[in-house]
Amino acid sequence: MTEPKQTIVKYGEYIESLLAGEDEALRLAREEALREGLPSINVSASEGKLLHVLALTIGARRILEIGTLGGYSAIWLARALPPDGHMVSLEIDPHHAEVARRNLERAGLAGRVEVRVGPALETLARMEGEEPFDLAFIDADKDAYVAYLERVVPLVRDGGLVLGDNTLPDAVLDPAGDSGAKRYNAAAAARPDLVSTIVPMLRDKGIDGLTVSIKQPSKR
Ligand SMILES: C[S@@+](CC[C@H](N)C(=O)[O-])C[C@H]1O[C@@H](n2cnc3c(N)ncnc32)[C@H](O)[C@@H]1O
Repeated sequence: MTEPKQTIVKYGEYIESLLAGEDEALRLAREEALREGLPSINVSASEGKLLHVLALTIGARRILEIGTLGGYSAIWLARALPPDGHMVSLEIDPHHAEVARRNLERAGLAGRVEVRVGPALETLARMEGEEPFDLAFIDADKDAYVAYLERVVPLVRDGGLVLGDNTLPDAVLDPAGDSGAKRYNAAAAARPDLVSTIVPMLRDKGIDGLTVSIKQPSKR
């Protein structure tokens, strides 16, 4: 009998083979990150495609990412931007940022994606007053997810999307369980300016989640 995890992998393979195939730039970005010793914790190709479709859905012209790694998700997201669109991706590790910049250059996106190096909470604190973003993708240290949410929502326009990755940890099944992602989901659910849901994602290790929130116009 097929093991449940093997079945999950097969569903993922089906989606990727039909709709989320990697071109050379995406494949090389993953391979280069591995060669450079970066951890293999990028989004899957099918999640990358979902990020791309969500960005297209809202006509995103400005995208913010927290957690660049080797630039794999940045390539999926930035490819949804129009030629004059802009993406800012925040990364604490200078080596990750350097690998990402090379991968973005090879993908022809160096002019569209700016990687800012430093602890994301500090970088975000300096971003107040920048032109609003259409979409923010949070994919860094989980313990800071609630703080990222608080910093990011004011930077996103009304009708824009806030996406939080890896938001279905085992802790959500245990009423006493605690995790940064579980606290993030609770914080998103409690915000009157966000309408949210969690989209289950297929991963090699099992099920994970992407919390999708749309920012509502503030009530006057
Ligand atoms: C899960 S990986 C990002 C994966 C990437 N979004 C992708 O799918 O290709 C998380 C990244 O967040 C970075 N990171 C961790 N803590 C951070 C912080 N406080 N500020 C900025 N980046 C941080 C890590 O160095 C790592 O590169």
